[in-house]
Amino acid sequence: MTNLATKRETFLKDYQPSAFVIEKFDVEFDLSPEKTLVTSHLLVHRLDKTSQHLFLDGKQLKLISIVLEEKVPKFSQDDDGLHIFNVPEVFSLKIVTEINPAANTELTGLYISNNIFCTQCEAEYFRKITFFLDRPDVMTFYQVKIIADKQAYPVLLSNGDLVEEGDLPDGKHFAVWSDPFKKPCYLFALVAGDLAKITDYFVTMSDRRVTLNIFSEKQNIERCGFAMLSLKKSMRWDEENYGREYDLNIFNIVAVNDFIFGAMENKSLNIFNAKYILANPETATDQDYADVDTVVAHEYFHNWSGNRVTCRDWFQLSLKEGFTVFREQSYDEDNNSAVVHRIRKVQDLRNGQFAEDAGPMAHPVQPKSYVAIDNFYTRTIYNKGGEVVRMLKTILGADVFRQATDRYFEKFDGQAVTTNDFVDVMEEVSKRDLSQFRLWYSQAGTPVVNATGAYDSLNKIYTLTMEQIVPPTADMQNKQPMLIPIVTSLLRKIRGDTAVALVEPEKTVLLESNLQSFIFDNIEADVIPSLNRHFSAPIKLNFSYTEDELLFLFKYDTDGFNRCDAGQRLASKIILEGMTDEHYSHAIGEILRQPFSDLSMQTELLQLPSEKYLHESVEMINVDKISTARWQLFLSNAMQHEAAWLKLYESLVSNENAYSPEEMGRRRLQAICLHHLVALNKKPYIDLAVKQFKAASNMTDSIAALSALSHTDTLERVEALAQFQDRWQHEPLVMNKWFMIQAQSRLPDTLENVQRLMQQPFFHLKNPNNVYALIGGFCSSNMLNFHHVSGEGYHFSAECVLTLDVINPMVSARIVECLLAWQRFAAPRKDLMQKALTRIISAPNLSKNVYEPVSKALDMEEHHVRS
Ligand code: ARG
Ligand code: ZN
Repeated sequence: MTNLATKRETFLKDYQPSAFVIEKFDVEFDLSPEKTLVTSHLLVHRLDKTSQHLFLDGKQLKLISIVLEEKVPKFSQDDDGLHIFNVPEVFSLKIVTEINPAANTELTGLYISNNIFCTQCEAEYFRKITFFLDRPDVMTFYQVKIIADKQAYPVLLSNGDLVEEGDLPDGKHFAVWSDPFKKPCYLFALVAGDLAKITDYFVTMSDRRVTLNIFSEKQNIERCGFAMLSLKKSMRWDEENYGREYDLNIFNIVAVNDFIFGAMENKSLNIFNAKYILANPETATDQDYADVDTVVAHEYFHNWSGNRVTCRDWFQLSLKEGFTVFREQSYDEDNNSAVVHRIRKVQDLRNGQFAEDAGPMAHPVQPKSYVAIDNFYTRTIYNKGGEVVRMLKTILGADVFRQATDRYFEKFDGQAVTTNDFVDVMEEVSKRDLSQFRLWYSQAGTPVVNATGAYDSLNKIYTLTMEQIVPPTADMQNKQPMLIPIVTSLLRKIRGDTAVALVEPEKTVLLESNLQSFIFDNIEADVIPSLNRHFSAPIKLNFSYTEDELLFLFKYDTDGFNRCDAGQRLASKIILEGMTDEHYSHAIGEILRQPFSDLSMQTELLQLPSEKYLHESVEMINVDKISTARWQLFLSNAMQHEAAWLKLYESLVSNENAYSPEEMGRRRLQAICLHHLVALNKKPYIDLAVKQFKAASNMTDSIAALSALSHTDTLERVEALAQFQDRWQHEPLVMNKWFMIQAQSRLPDTLENVQRLMQQPFFHLKNPNNVYALIGGFCSSNMLNFHHVSGEGYHFSAECVLTLDVINPMVSARIVECLLAWQRFAAPRKDLMQKALTRIISAPNLSKNVYEPVSKALDMEEHHVRS
């Protein structure tokens, strides 16, 4: 029906090293919003004797002049760049281009956010700044001169060290930055604006003093302190856990309002979405604090996993992203309740990545082809890629893994390498054969493992038999069995039902074949297996536990992750299979009454599986049935333990605002109590929420109350929303929460409300955070209303996708994800979703960012029907 060939596809198998290298790069920016002049000096060296044709990438550039060694060369320009003919072996090029940052709504290349010039070059956007060899394996030294109006742009920043600055005529000034490390152009950054800063310093393990600056708009600078603490903590953590020391004397972070993703690890000049820097108790929730900590660490860790050792090409993206996600998660586990952090990260993986792996955009951790590389900044590359590194650590053991990462950083420092190089080092150091393990990089799809257990009382043997199935994906039908590390324990009830014996302590079972049995000896009596503990492999594990066994694991599993997972399995059986909720409810009652030292863990045990998780557990999705049954179970939990929820709620009231794992746990638990109480729709509980909303001295408590009220059809909801708007109208980050809460409401007029909110003066379609909060909040997080059987949600999402595509294709491509799994929904939704997709694909001038997923989704019917 549709043909990807109409948009050019890039293949991993076509990789060729560059025939040219850039020995040195000097660039000058004369900044002005509508007309910025970029003068670049390249020293080019031709490696290939035969090729005299140099092609430089360049998009949306106005070429002013080009000179090769004092002469105008023979050249031609097309939509993708500049061809220069008959070039000698070594030569200098001077190219002047003109760009218009003020007109840039794509937020890539050089653009302006609230009067601040800033850049985003990853993946292939340096080519929107100047003609260049825009590929990560071309690395060079940069010297950058920035010229700008001094009053409007007093702060001028780029990568590396400041080597010169001074005043110029006409109220202008300049700064020259020089980066002593070779880098690919995707790590280039420039910032110019009227920014405030906070400064601190860090003394590295070899006693070097590093100056740390965080820049933001003046009115926000008071909110940057927490991010600074995270930065210092990350720097220390990387020294202690990976032996990685920071390598320059300066590290800068800049926070801007309009940013397409979370943040960017440009060498020594990280640029952040303000959402991941600014935090104080009045305006940021505990989740915001946690996100700031995570993203600051993630970007800092890239200095080694990404910058010092970078990617050969964009098919290797997970080399830096998967590894950095794993490093970031380990950092978070060290600083928080490790088990709860793991539980929540696995929820993200199951809710998002599993769906991706089962949908039309399914791709391996190392993809084989792409149309738009932007579409591959995915949960698979990031999160599944992180899981793959985690499995390597599990298989090798912590010590060997650390030796291997040391060797990796040492061996490939300053180079652009592949995921294969990474696994090679793991192999070299561990002396293990990891060839089968590499399938995790080349085969897409979430493996399914079906396990059964049998106890032989005569021989005192327990046999665990496991079968693995790697499902077909659009890119590959028949797959080979993977190497899957399944951390396993065998448990048994003792003294009736009141405690657990660890019959077999944790051990890592390596599943290698399609079908394999594992024998455990000297097992005195029948046991209950606890499998894939800590979620040791990113798989769907089935074991036909009885209700009793699940209840036992839910109460006693010695692995917190599996304990919580047993609860999710029980709740899923009630929601999806109509099992009675009597015993589960009893267990919930016990959890409510038990004393817990980790209140975040207690909260997790009380949580129902998400609708998205439930969607991933079935073949054909019946939205109403799942949503209604889940809500019924929620109400039933609320009703049956009304007094306990209230008692627990009251015991947790406090006016402590500190951000610490303990206080955060208390607030989370209090929030879930309030949600259950308010769901009962009784006046005293609505009043309780209003009271919390009014008394709240931190954003977490305020948002918890508002979101509990947001599903009630009450005057109190309307009033609280109005008060919140009144108070926070001028704080864009806070208003995003207000948008998100309303977008996710279960109330039937939610779509109309979302459309009304889009007209508000403080909603901006050009701001990605606004779009993700309101439009994304509705389309991808409100399963009940988005999938309304009228199809109006689908129609709305298609409208938004088309409008956004003109402004910012990357943002649009994120919104369109909500329609891609159309084939898994029962009629009539399936047809309505297909209609919305068809409407999108028929639009003229659709970006390749949106074209790629939509055409794959529509094509999928022909090549690939889920078995
Ligand atoms: N490297 C950045 C990070 O993971 C993300 C950049 C995404 N940019 C993009 N154009 N897709 O921290
Ligand atoms: Zn990253």
